[in-house]
Amino acid sequence: MADDIGSFELNTGARIPSLGLGTWQSSPGLVGDAVATAVKAGYRHIDCAQRYGNEKEIGLVLKKLFEDGVVNREDLWITSKLWCTDHAPEDVLEALDRTLRDLQLDYVDLYLMHWPVRLKKGSVSFAPENLVEPDIPCTWRAMETLYDSGKARAIGVSNFSTKKLSDLLDVARVPPAVVQVECHPSWQQAKLHSFCKSKGIHVSGYSPLGSPGTTWIKGDVLQNPILHMVAEKLRKTPAQVALRWGLQMGHSALPKSTNEARIKENSDVFGWSIPEDLLAKLSEIEQARLVRGTNFVHDTFGPYRSVEELWDGEI
Ligand code: A2P
Repeated sequence: MADDIGSFELNTGARIPSLGLGTWQSSPGLVGDAVATAVKAGYRHIDCAQRYGNEKEIGLVLKKLFEDGVVNREDLWITSKLWCTDHAPEDVLEALDRTLRDLQLDYVDLYLMHWPVRLKKGSVSFAPENLVEPDIPCTWRAMETLYDSGKARAIGVSNFSTKKLSDLLDVARVPPAVVQVECHPSWQQAKLHSFCKSKGIHVSGYSPLGSPGTTWIKGDVLQNPILHMVAEKLRKTPAQVALRWGLQMGHSALPKSTNEARIKENSDVFGWSIPEDLLAKLSEIEQARLVRGTNFVHDTFGPYRSVEELWDGEI
């Protein structure tokens, strides 16, 4: 893999590889092969989460890749995330230990608070009565102890608005290194992007292709006519242009695929670039948040009474 924009430096001094394999919605039985295919194709970053329900299978494959000498642990970047049921400080520690056991690792490179949302311990559904008030500073202090222990070499948050990130920065002893959010040409996160740039926080983009095929997502990022026009001019696919756009904006991109051809297609984002005039065209694309978090919003239960409140108006 050519190494222009191959990685970004974090505020910890570590470098995060700019292209990561997403594993959200990667089915058990398929995710292991996807990880092996990706690593063999040159990916050095795997984005995981306990909530995705597939960390054990990923762990088995990582172990084999290390044993077979395909890649060394220190050359891979592994992210995982704290689920909303585990926000109590003692549960934060236990949750990372469980993830490390499942992934068969001694440490993760990055551990993220998955949502600024708290669910009752042990709850398995998003039923409204499971929504409880989060105490983000308290949960963050537990995340900081994971960072101190070295089990999480960097810590950060996911699905935070600019305001929630700013509030966290006001109280954090260890500032978040990364904020992972939905980010693609149809949801460019301009406000969060400039805030993070000013604070030295790296933005990592999930659903960089707009998660086509997810039935509850309304909108098709890859079908956007401006994206198609740019792709045709550059003789690339719309997916490649969407990913390369993220890299050129300074974000890491985490495309999910369990298909070998598409895993390889998505890795061909180096050694070419989108020129300024076409970047300007992409900036004209109409914006819409696709992952709205409606499961976490209820008009009588929980802290967020509306999608506007969850995202502090950034919708
Ligand atoms: P598949 O796993 O069958 O390849 P996102 O990363 O934005 O969440 O998007 C993931 C979705 O996009 C999956 O449904 C995945 O399907 C599909 N996908 C991945 N790569 C491509 C590509 N290059 N072109 C079109 N669809 C893709």
